[in-house]
Amino acid sequence: MAAFDIQIYLKERKSLVDRALDRYLKGSKKHPQALHRAMHYGVFPGGKRLRPILMLAAGELFGARHGLLLPFACALELIHAYSIIHDDLPALDNDDLRRGVPASHKMFGEGIALLAGDALLTEAFDLMSSPQVARSLKPKTALEVMHEIAHAAGGGGMVGGQAVDLEAEGREADIATIEYIHVRKTGALIHVAARVGAKIGGADAKALRRISRYGDFLGLAFQIADDILDAAGQDGGKATYPSVVGLAASRARVQELLRQCLKEIELFGKNADPLRGIARCIGERVL
Ligand code: IPE
Ligand code: IPE
Ligand code: MG
Repeated sequence: MAAFDIQIYLKERKSLVDRALDRYLKGSKKHPQALHRAMHYGVFPGGKRLRPILMLAAGELFGARHGLLLPFACALELIHAYSIIHDDLPALDNDDLRRGVPASHKMFGEGIALLAGDALLTEAFDLMSSPQVARSLKPKTALEVMHEIAHAAGGGGMVGGQAVDLEAEGREADIATIEYIHVRKTGALIHVAARVGAKIGGADAKALRRISRYGDFLGLAFQIADDILDAAGQDGGKATYPSVVGLAASRARVQELLRQCLKEIELFGKNADPLRGIARCIGERVL
């Protein structure tokens, strides 16, 4: 059998996610045109699709069908897309560029950008509670994973992390505060991506705990890696790992977290190659 190739895997899963997102967004054409254009612009061409791919990889490990995973994987990407649009607004990070092109508010104005974010967040819940999901997933599981996603995205998770991030701007932050921010603003969605995949796949409690810890380590590693990549450029006033402990110690922390990630999934054998590959890719970004 050919050796597992993470790059091929990521490409194939990304195209699966993109096709599903395209289908779901077509349904939102009923919205006013400017709003729909801004929603579409927030999602396409998009970025790495890390969160939905992670959900697929965790789900596949426990034998979940793509059809069951995709509504939740796409919903998570819609939530990510909304968070990015709002994050770039002048009231938050005031970034004019996102993924090398004008941020949403630069293209559509602040009002429509704000509303496109609101609509994408709401569409995520529309999608997760859709008749298609109700037909295919046990109601108890659907409700549980939706609850977890809501919790991860809300005030106790991603939005809460962004709030503390905002407050910490321009101030000296210690590592504990920085980790508090990272674990929420970035870690929460990554953690829940892995958990929801595993839950839909029917992972038992012990396996789910391992996948949860894998997601925790991965989420923190991902944000530290992101800050290392940003360190040369923007985000001057932000509370980041590199600004407190320096680049070398930040890189070492990423590698240590990824080692912990790999350890959590060791016993899953070859079937966990995609989860391993994803962790290694994050490490390689900052080697
Ligand atoms: C960027 O996330 C924002 C963070 C939470 C660090 P990603 O790096 O996953 O963004 P895209 O979607 O791939 O551009
Ligand atoms: C973005 O974090 C976090 C969310 C949108 C939840 P950052 O501000 O650190 O990421 P970039 O630099 O905008 O991608
Ligand atoms: Mg930002």
